[in-house]
Amino acid sequence: MRETQVSLQLPQSTTPRARRLDAWNQPAKLLNQHQVRSYAKYVDELQEVLADGLRGGPPDLIISRIDDALNRGPAERLRELVGRPALRRSGAFFSGPVLAASVAAQVAPSLNKTSVIYDPACGGGDLLISCAQQIANRLSPRLASAQLARCIAGRDVHGEFIEVSKLRLKLLVLRKLLVAKSGSRFVGSLDFPMLSVGSGLADFEPIRNATHIVLNPPFISTTAPPDCAWRSGRVNSAALFLETCIKESQPGTRIVALLPEVLRSGSSYDRWRSMVLGAYSIDRVEVIGRFSSHADVDVFIWAGTKRRAKAVPRRSPTTRSPSASKLSVGRFFTVRVGPVVDYRSPRTGPDRRYLHARNADAWAEIRRIGSRRRWNGALVNPPFVVVRRTSRPGKLARAEASLVTSGLPVAVENHLIVLEPRRGSLRQCRHLMRILGNPRTDRWLDRQIRCRHLTTAALKSLPWWDLVSPKRVPRGR
Ligand SMILES: C[S@@+](CC[C@H](N)C(=O)[O-])C[C@H]1O[C@@H](n2cnc3c(N)ncnc32)[C@H](O)[C@@H]1O
Repeated sequence: MRETQVSLQLPQSTTPRARRLDAWNQPAKLLNQHQVRSYAKYVDELQEVLADGLRGGPPDLIISRIDDALNRGPAERLRELVGRPALRRSGAFFSGPVLAASVAAQVAPSLNKTSVIYDPACGGGDLLISCAQQIANRLSPRLASAQLARCIAGRDVHGEFIEVSKLRLKLLVLRKLLVAKSGSRFVGSLDFPMLSVGSGLADFEPIRNATHIVLNPPFISTTAPPDCAWRSGRVNSAALFLETCIKESQPGTRIVALLPEVLRSGSSYDRWRSMVLGAYSIDRVEVIGRFSSHADVDVFIWAGTKRRAKAVPRRSPTTRSPSASKLSVGRFFTVRVGPVVDYRSPRTGPDRRYLHARNADAWAEIRRIGSRRRWNGALVNPPFVVVRRTSRPGKLARAEASLVTSGLPVAVENHLIVLEPRRGSLRQCRHLMRILGNPRTDRWLDRQIRCRHLTTAALKSLPWWDLVSPKRVPRGR
């Protein structure tokens, strides 16, 4: 078997910022050498397809093997050879042809002869291959091969993935030649010098040279680097990748990113979004839903351009709504998560009425709370409304609510979001219940958040619809 490049021997970083990011970038969460070496089998398989094609094997058979390699082959073999648990830990889920085509569609219209397309975490090259197909479709096979060698750039920490990306690009050219019945010998010696092993977080040169950046980075949780201005502690690594691309790219660079939903709608990423939107003008937000049947995470695509001049941060498109300038729930209600974390909060202090996700009947007006618990912390004074935090996109009644009118202060569990009327008005609570139960709210929330948790930010910015034909009328209990 051919010797494969040793993984994780990354080129040295030069600047202090790059070194800091590099230090962050050696987590135990990357695939280990044994796991990545298993994928070398797939490198061998692709080399065999290439060799058979160059030797003049039956074109129809070769083309069908190439089609597999250009579509789902790399991701399927990765799951078989490396296994899902390791992929989950490392976040190495390749985009697959459908998502990759959605990203490439946002790149294609602005491509020209001088474009350079870069993926800082390219894996087996799914995004780059989709973009390369867009370029190759416009050119003869010979021109396509010369152009692709000049304009496709990528980094990945694993050498085997870089080899797969290069082989797939060769196979793409070979396929064109086979269809055109042209000589294909030269494909064997084609090179793609701008694809190499490296860290997309620390290697800034290719970011600066790119006219287009495509990315589907790992979504794993990691520790924010010490110079992270918008967050400390745990952070989704996808947020760091996009930040690096935005900061290091030239003004005018088009960036198309496939990202986890939490970055678009999670309230803990408010500061990150302000930072991103100050530097990056977004012209398309595409909410996708679940990444794939193998990776249960909701995703979206952001496409936009690095701004030319420093601009004032705008509101995030995630929280903007058609009626953002009109009244919203936050104007009339304070919104916060219930303070009791049942398994962790000590059972000390006075015996309190206790409201939790199991005794807060949906769409009920709760006048008596039977459940009790000792609790020393903050209480909520009725009347108030609670909404369950878990809420699946597309579900009927996403904001499942209850109205609490019992006389005494209540301890509320953290699986519920508490909305307290600023003026203590029961009438406003009832109005809010009708708003929450209205189908317009379901549609609005589906547009705002695709993840399975409602956020306080989303509920605060929910429009104070003036409709109100009741759909789910509170019943007494
Ligand atoms: C979610 S996969 C996506 C691959 C490819 N962009 C796609 O769309 O199919 C993320 C890739 O990032 C790579 N990776 C992880 N950390 C990296 C880093 N710091 N620099 C470059 N690549 C990295 C992993 O090896 C993996 O191949």
